[in-house]
Amino acid sequence: MAHVVTGGAGFIACNLIPRLLERGITVYALDNLVRGRREFLDSFMDKGRLRFLSIDCSDKAALRRAFEQVTREEAITDVWHLAANSDIPAGVADPTVDLKDTFLTTFATLVVMAEFEVRRIHFASSSAIYGDHSDVPISENTAPCFPISNYGAMKLASEAQISAAVETFLDQANIFRFPNVVGPPATHGVIIDFIGKLRATPDVLDVLGNGAQQKSYLHVEDLISAMLFIADQAQEPRTVFNIGPEDFGVTVRFIAETVRDAVAPGSEIRFGEGDRGWVGDVPRFRYDCKQLAALGWRPNLTSEGAVRRAVADIVRQELGR
Ligand SMILES: NC(=O)c1ccc[n+]([C@@H]2O[C@H](COP(=O)([O-])OP(=O)(O)OC[C@H]3O[C@@H](n4cnc5c(N)ncnc54)[C@H](O)[C@@H]3O)[C@@H](O)[C@H]2O)c1
Repeated sequence: MAHVVTGGAGFIACNLIPRLLERGITVYALDNLVRGRREFLDSFMDKGRLRFLSIDCSDKAALRRAFEQVTREEAITDVWHLAANSDIPAGVADPTVDLKDTFLTTFATLVVMAEFEVRRIHFASSSAIYGDHSDVPISENTAPCFPISNYGAMKLASEAQISAAVETFLDQANIFRFPNVVGPPATHGVIIDFIGKLRATPDVLDVLGNGAQQKSYLHVEDLISAMLFIADQAQEPRTVFNIGPEDFGVTVRFIAETVRDAVAPGSEIRFGEGDRGWVGDVPRFRYDCKQLAALGWRPNLTSEGAVRRAVADIVRQELGR
C-alpha cells in the first residue's frame, strides 16, 4: 500500500510523512522544491519506505510518469495533496503563481488519479477560502466563501474540482480547511519572518500593520493528528472540516512580543498602520470547529500555546539545536 504526498518536501508534509511511515505505509513524496527542502526528509529516508521524486505537480505528463514509476512497485491507495503556493503576497503580485501551483496542481493530480484509478484524496485547503468574516465564528456548513486573495480563490476552485471528481471516480475526498499552522521546520509565516527581521536588526522589530490583527493558530502536531483522525473516521464520500482551536486566537502584537522575548529581549517593536499586513490579509478570524469536536477530536494546544511552543521550537531549529 502506497500513499503519494504532493508538496512532500514542505513544512506540513514533512510532519505528516513520518506519521504515515509509522503506520507501515510506503510514501512517495513529490515536490518541485520551489519552497520545500529535500533535506527535511533526510532523517526519514533510512526507514526504506520513503521515496522522493522531484517533479512539478502541475505538469500532467510528469505526474503520470511518477505514478507509472510508483505503480510498477505498488498500488497507490491515497493521495495527500499538499502542493500549493504558500506565499499569499506572491500570488497577489502575480496571479499565475496561484493558478499554477495551487489550482493546476490540483487539476493535474485529479486527472492522473482518475487515469490510475486512485480513489482517495486528502486535500490541504485553507481558511483563506472564506474571506473576511470579522468576529463571526466561521462554520464550514454555513459561512459563505468570498476569498479576498488569489490563493484563497484557487483553494476554493480546487475544492470545487475535487467535489466534482467525487461524482466521477473518487470514492472519498477529505477536505481539510487549515487555519494558520505553526511549528518546525518553519520556512514561511509570521514567526520565521519576525525571527529573520530581528536577526538582521536586533534593536528593532518592524511589524506590518498595527498589530491588532487577531487569528487562530494551530500547532502542526495537532494538525497532523486531526488529518489522520478524519482520514480514519470519515464515512461520507465528501467531507469538509475546519481544523483548529475554537478560541479567539492571538494578536500579531502577542506573536511579536513572544518572538522578541525569545530572540532579542529589550528590542523595540514598531507597528505600522492599518489592520492588515498585506493585500489579501484578513484582520480577524475565528473558527467554529464544532463538527470536528462532535466527531471526537480537539487540539491539545490553544492558539496561545501553539504560538509559544512554535516560537521556542523554531528558535531552537534556527540555532541548530
Ligand atoms: N502553513 C499554513 O499555515 C497553511 C494554512 C492553510 C493551508 N495550508 C496548505 O497546506 C499545504 C502545505 O503548506 P505548507 O505550509 O507546508 O507550505 P510549504 O510551502 O512548506 O509546502 C508546499 C510544498 O509544495 C511545493 N510545491 C509548490 N508548487 C509545486 C508544484 N507546482 N509542484 C510540486 N510541488 C510544489 C513546495 O515546494 C512546497 O514544498 C499547502 O497546500 C498550503 O496551501 C498551509
